[in-house]
This record gives sequence, structure tokens and C-alpha cells, in this order.
Amino acid sequence: MDASELLAGVRLLPVVTVDDAQLSARLGRCLEDAGFTAVEVTLRTEHALDALAAMVQACPNLMVGAGSVRRAEQFEAVARAGAAFAVSPGATDGLLDAANLPYVPGAATASECLRLLERGYRLQKFFPAEANGGVAALRALSAPLPEVRFCPTGGIDQHNVADYLALDTVACVGGSWFAPADLISAGRFDEISLRAQAARMVAG
Ligand code: 3PG
Repeated sequence: MDASELLAGVRLLPVVTVDDAQLSARLGRCLEDAGFTAVEVTLRTEHALDALAAMVQACPNLMVGAGSVRRAEQFEAVARAGAAFAVSPGATDGLLDAANLPYVPGAATASECLRLLERGYRLQKFFPAEANGGVAALRALSAPLPEVRFCPTGGIDQHNVADYLALDTVACVGGSWFAPADLISAGRFDEISLRAQAARMVAG
């Protein structure tokens, strides 16, 4: 299935960095309780795959994706861990050829977007969103690309998420602001829960 179909209806995608299976299971349940239906677990830590697998096990109703996929061979590993989808900050031919599950590759320029469109990717991650010019840049970039839907990520927070979601071309917004790595590793799930609910409120 295409990622744009799989993630249809997802407006806010938590991007989480968690290095511990138990914490990951608790985090998944916390986000599920806050009403989230999809989560991206980044492959940035030593035990990220175990953490991803633990969240998949603990939360059968949550679509758990793998983020920060940077090497072709990681697709096999994340699929084995039970990932429902994969996300990358950019894209290479190697990654696009290896993609074996619904995939959201990254793009930040018109040429990158067109290349992904040629390969059939209508949902693309705009990364890093704020550093690339934010809402104004994404609005300008998407104007000549009506076929593309974006998941802007990178530097988005409670103050600007609604501005991104107001763009017709934005399918969903990704971010870590309501479940940052320091709160996760400290096991502060009450605080994450409050922040997650506030994020969902502002995202509408
Ligand atoms: C990502 O991996 O998509 C980003 O690092 C998330 O960006 P943020 O931490 O600025 O929300």
C-alpha cells in the first residue's frame, strides 16, 4: 500500500527517539491514549529496532513506522521489527529501490520533489521544514506541484503547527516537541500525555 493511503487521516505524526523497549511500549500506549494513530520511531539509537518492535507488540492498533531510514538494508530490518511504514529525511536511488513497505521519502527542493513524483511518491517529507524557510517556503514550493502532499517535519512546534496544517498541500505534520527524547528517557509520561493532548488540540 502507498504511504499516502496508509497515513490518510493522520494529521499529526509524533517523531520519537527512544532507546529502551520498556519505555517504548509505555510511550506507545501513552500516545495511543492521547488519540494518536501513527508514530514514527527514529533509527537514531543503538536499540531503536528493539524499541520499535516493543511498541508494535504493545500497541497493535497503532501504526508504528521507522524514521531516519538512511541505508537500503534498514528496510529489511524495520520490516522484520514490524514497522508499518518507513520515513527518510531525504532519498537516494538505493533507498527508493529497496523500499519494501509504505514509504515517505524526504525532499526539500522542487527537483527532489519531481524526482520522487517520477517514482510515484505523492506523499513526501519536507525536511527540515523550519530551516528550509518554514510555511512560506513550503507554500511556494508546493504551488507548482499540486500532485504532491507534504509531511513537513523539523523545527515545528506548538506555535507553528497550525500554520502548516492550514496549507492545502500539507497532509500531516511530524514533530518531536510533545514527546522529546529527554522526557521519554526520564519516563515522564504524565508530562508527555499533557503535551500530546495539547498538540492534538492545536492541530485540530
Ligand atoms: C525528524 O527526524 O523528522 C526530525 O528530527 C524531527 O524534527 P523535530 O525534532 O525538530 O520535531
